[in-house]
Amino acid sequence: MLHLRVPSQETQRVLLLLKAESALPEGARVRVDPSDSNLRLIPFIEDASTVTATQYPVVDIPTEPPAARNYRDHLSDFLPTSVVESTEWPTRHEFVGDLILIKLDENQRTHGGSIGEALLRQHARTRAVFEDRGVTGTFRVRDLKPLAVREGHDDSTRTRIVEAGHQLWTDPATVYYSSRLSHEREGTLACAKNLRQELGRPLAICDPYAGVGPSLRPLIAESDLVGELFAGDLNPAAVKLLRENIPHTSATIECVDARNLKNRPEMREKYDLLLVNIPHDSLEHLPDLLPLLQSNGIVRGWAIVEDTDFEASIHHLHSMFDQTATLEIRRSYSASANLCRFEARKTP
Ligand SMILES: C[S@@+](CC[C@H](N)C(=O)[O-])C[C@H]1O[C@@H](n2cnc3c(N)ncnc32)[C@H](O)[C@@H]1O
Repeated sequence: MLHLRVPSQETQRVLLLLKAESALPEGARVRVDPSDSNLRLIPFIEDASTVTATQYPVVDIPTEPPAARNYRDHLSDFLPTSVVESTEWPTRHEFVGDLILIKLDENQRTHGGSIGEALLRQHARTRAVFEDRGVTGTFRVRDLKPLAVREGHDDSTRTRIVEAGHQLWTDPATVYYSSRLSHEREGTLACAKNLRQELGRPLAICDPYAGVGPSLRPLIAESDLVGELFAGDLNPAAVKLLRENIPHTSATIECVDARNLKNRPEMREKYDLLLVNIPHDSLEHLPDLLPLLQSNGIVRGWAIVEDTDFEASIHHLHSMFDQTATLEIRRSYSASANLCRFEARKTP
């Protein structure tokens, strides 16, 4: 690209002149002249410039092509320009550890391999790219189809994520994990610390829908916060990863239906803190879980509540606990429902 060689003290003046002549390229970058540090090299648009260009020496400097801003900038390396230009490409994708998951419509799916390769090129730390065909079954796992795998690596969906500085193994094809509730888990840690201070001893904690353990990981990292711990999940694949992620000496980890735990006498009225995170069914399951809570123990859970059911859900909680039970909207779930957090204390 053509540049004007300008004494450094005149840089500002020349920039203004070029701008007035519409001869300054978009995003123009002024450089120091490598042969004389008192001179500056200012790019200009040859055709547009008239007066200014005649006043200074002109040098031609090869410029590097602009760096790709996203994966779409690489698609033309894999597909004909006509396809690249005539297709509406997905603008969102999700990172899960060293994987990328991307949703595709029917037309985009025909170019899935190229989308995968372009994503790998753009994201050097990504190992494999999968098409995300949505969530399936009671365990809410993803239907994933491999699109591209980095050379020399495998297309395993097992991957390690980092949340709030803690590492956790997960596998979106076989277990549920979402980083969306990570701020809620920070709140759970704060709640547990307050309760620990109030009781003056480590807590007995029960997380019967633990998934791969994202709520428990920050709790066990705190010294003297957790005494006894029960972590369960009905999905055997989640329990396997839970055992790797929660290496707490006093943890009991089991593959069990949470609603059946009340039938074990040794678990009744045992826990200071009970987590209930099965949002589509939390309020329905709650009566089966309450026998696990000690008197004065705290239950903290998440539920998807339709707008039309919100008041009735609060009354339901007040009737199960007392008037201090809370139900708070945390985020929108759909046009007519929200993900809400409830918190209540079991009265003696
Ligand atoms: C929304 S996920 C929450 C997982 C985890 N607490 C988290 O925050 O990532 C709900 C979990 O409940 C498990 N689950 C579903 N039904 C269950 C049941 N009846 N008893 C125990 N776990 C169940 C699912 O396998 C899933 O891992």
